[in-house]
Amino acid sequence: MTTYQFPDGFLWGAAASATQTEGAADVDGKAKNIWDYWFEIEPERFHEGVGPQETSTFYKNFQADIERMKAIHLNSFRPSISWSRLLPDGTNVNQQAVDFYNQMFDELLAHGVEPIVNLYHFDMPMHFQEKGGWESREVVEAFNHYAQTAFDLFGDRVKKWTTFNEPIVPVEMGYLNDFHYPCVVDMKRAVAVAFHSMLASAKAVQSYHQAGLHGEIGIILNLTPSYPRSHSKGDMEAAKIADLFFNRSFLDPSVLGAYPSELVELLRKYELLPTIEAGDLEIIQQHTVDFLGVNYYQPRRVKERETPIQTEAILPENFFEPYIWPERRMNPYRGWEIYEKGLYDIAIHIKENYGNIPWYVAENGMGVENEERFIDDSGMVQDDYRIEFYKEHLKWLHKGMEEGSNCFGYHVWTFMDNWSWLNAYKNRYGLYRVDLRTQKRYVKQSGKWLGQVAQQNGFE
Ligand code: BG6
Repeated sequence: MTTYQFPDGFLWGAAASATQTEGAADVDGKAKNIWDYWFEIEPERFHEGVGPQETSTFYKNFQADIERMKAIHLNSFRPSISWSRLLPDGTNVNQQAVDFYNQMFDELLAHGVEPIVNLYHFDMPMHFQEKGGWESREVVEAFNHYAQTAFDLFGDRVKKWTTFNEPIVPVEMGYLNDFHYPCVVDMKRAVAVAFHSMLASAKAVQSYHQAGLHGEIGIILNLTPSYPRSHSKGDMEAAKIADLFFNRSFLDPSVLGAYPSELVELLRKYELLPTIEAGDLEIIQQHTVDFLGVNYYQPRRVKERETPIQTEAILPENFFEPYIWPERRMNPYRGWEIYEKGLYDIAIHIKENYGNIPWYVAENGMGVENEERFIDDSGMVQDDYRIEFYKEHLKWLHKGMEEGSNCFGYHVWTFMDNWSWLNAYKNRYGLYRVDLRTQKRYVKQSGKWLGQVAQQNGFE
């Protein structure tokens, strides 16, 4: 027995996404997604001008990469399917994509690595973006067609599906902050995008359940616990509103089947409610997820608004502002606070307020710049900082589970160094280092460590 022992069958693995790992962005019939297009028109916005065309070459090297997963005893892996590869025109199936995903899933299963397959990871096909992206109901229906196609093609073998990864991110980054294409800053449009993503998720859940495939379907949310500066009324209210916007806007409808009434009231007050058609709320109510994936990197610390609001537009920041906790520890490369106990707080929150739904840690990780400086004589990155990061999070997760939280797995971000959107290859997260010149992979110390943990199902 190890000191921190996890239950039998616990999933140990890593997550990735199509755009960030497959490469082969414009071969074998794949259509452009918003990242391919945006890089074409504004390459200067991407770190060192590196775009999504050849990200980590998983499309080419997936067989050897899956062997590498096995070599470090991972028993699960979460890839995403590229919508624009599977259905380049939105309707017709691309056989080359089917072959690739078939081979990938078969290879994973042959190696005892369970696939948890995600349908949408920030990668809107460009032709659907031109129709309005998630602002358009037509795209909601198109997503349902894509989901049904994926279930039909791969649902005999893939037994765990997720509809979206972090649906709040395209809302926040694409429609509130000018960080992702289409670089809009407009709260009303952001709310419509959020609502339609939620509706699309519920419809995909419905389609999956109707298909009778004897598996499970969930959604992956990045939960950022909102900690107030103090217990003052203003700070508490600020934390509550941040939580409503950034966590409960997807968590409540996905798991409980309804939006929080405080959120609805707030949006109504500022005339931000989306257009809701007859039957929409019933679909959301009736088709909740079977399980939850939680991405956890950092908490959100807030205080009541003290400085004047910079713009006349209504934005979430009008209701709170960031608070710098004097004791915070930072990952300086990513600018994110490291707060391991947040994972325990999430575990208990899910247990107490979300019916103790089965859930797993779908991403947890630490991006570090210039990791070559930690390569030792044998060629291995000695990333003790990352081992420490995983270990401390796992201790808190373990405590949450001992207290009854229903967690069934722990996935790190990510399996091998991959392309981080605007940051391209600036910060590395992988269990394996990728040498971009040769595309060779080298296990890092943290990869070996996590492998031992997976093998022993725990650690000292
Ligand atoms: C998650 C995403 O938000 O964090 C990943 O699901 C992303 O796609 C990861 O890569 C790390 O963030 P970043 O911006 O450093 O790549």
